[in-house]
Amino acid sequence: MQNLSAAGSVAATLQGHGLVVADGALGRAMVRLLLDQAPALTITITGRTPDPRPDTRQLLRQAPDRLAYGVLDLCRDEQLADLGTHLDRLDCPLRLVFNASGWLHGPAPHQTPEKRLAALRRSALHRSFAVNAWGPALLAQTVEPVLKRSGQAWFASLSARVGSIGDNHLGGWYSYRAAKAAQNQLLKTVALEWRRTMPGVCVACLHPGTTDSPLSKPFQARVPPAKLFTPDFSAAALLGVLLGLTPRDSGGFWAWDGQPVPW
Ligand SMILES: NC(=O)c1ccc[n+]([C@@H]2O[C@H](COP(=O)([O-])OP(=O)(O)OC[C@H]3O[C@@H](n4cnc5c(N)ncnc54)[C@H](OP(=O)(O)O)[C@@H]3O)[C@@H](O)[C@H]2O)c1
Repeated sequence: MQNLSAAGSVAATLQGHGLVVADGALGRAMVRLLLDQAPALTITITGRTPDPRPDTRQLLRQAPDRLAYGVLDLCRDEQLADLGTHLDRLDCPLRLVFNASGWLHGPAPHQTPEKRLAALRRSALHRSFAVNAWGPALLAQTVEPVLKRSGQAWFASLSARVGSIGDNHLGGWYSYRAAKAAQNQLLKTVALEWRRTMPGVCVACLHPGTTDSPLSKPFQARVPPAKLFTPDFSAAALLGVLLGLTPRDSGGFWAWDGQPVPW
């Protein structure tokens, strides 16, 4: 496991801007942590609604000088373009991108994770790939010109251990597993390109552990309490892992405890 206090001291030295995509449970927890541990970082958090949700509004009220809100649905090209424009206008380097978006389930019966092949639907595959795979890659494309000016930076995106092909011993959850595996491949490919074009940037796919959030809520019944993390715990562990990585580590897949996850 990474040294969290060492990571805290790296966070304290971060100067510039941080982008946290998606104001879900883990996104908001990451913003709370950065506001606390990275005092020289200004932050943009994104959400899908023009008006921030109440929890996000509360964060914005707490740090009006350091935190801004932007609208971003990763499936909408014009909103990605607007984000690019917003970042381009920053007068400080973009140091950190943390993508905390993801999609696992919607209304039953056809948007629950598939238990068997017969349950697979084109619509769920499409939505899962659009959010969990294409979204992070198009986000990387959007921030690329701004990161080029930054020098040293981290680009992290939340994946999931179930996206590991090598670790797939249970089956099921076809569309989520496959889309997270596709995200991993896309971001590994981004990392290889950026190693040449932006040698100061570290790209990481991260598994947060099972964390209490709307995404995991329907699947928590059989998770032992000690293995169900709070978003604040997971965010702190992930930031510790991420800031312990250097550009030499770029293109890997790590869990919250700093262990590499097999592809
Ligand atoms: N919680 C866990 O146990 C767990 C385990 C492994 C991996 N993860 C991963 O961790 C990430 C964060 O999940 P979470 O636990 O924090 O769940 P969460 O609270 O449900 O957050 C998911 C976020 O993704 C956003 N989102 C969905 N579709 C989007 C789109 N098209 N464009 C932009 N944002 C979109 C959601 O926005 P709306 O609220 O507007 O829908 C929500 O803010 C996900 O990638 C998930 O796969 C979580």
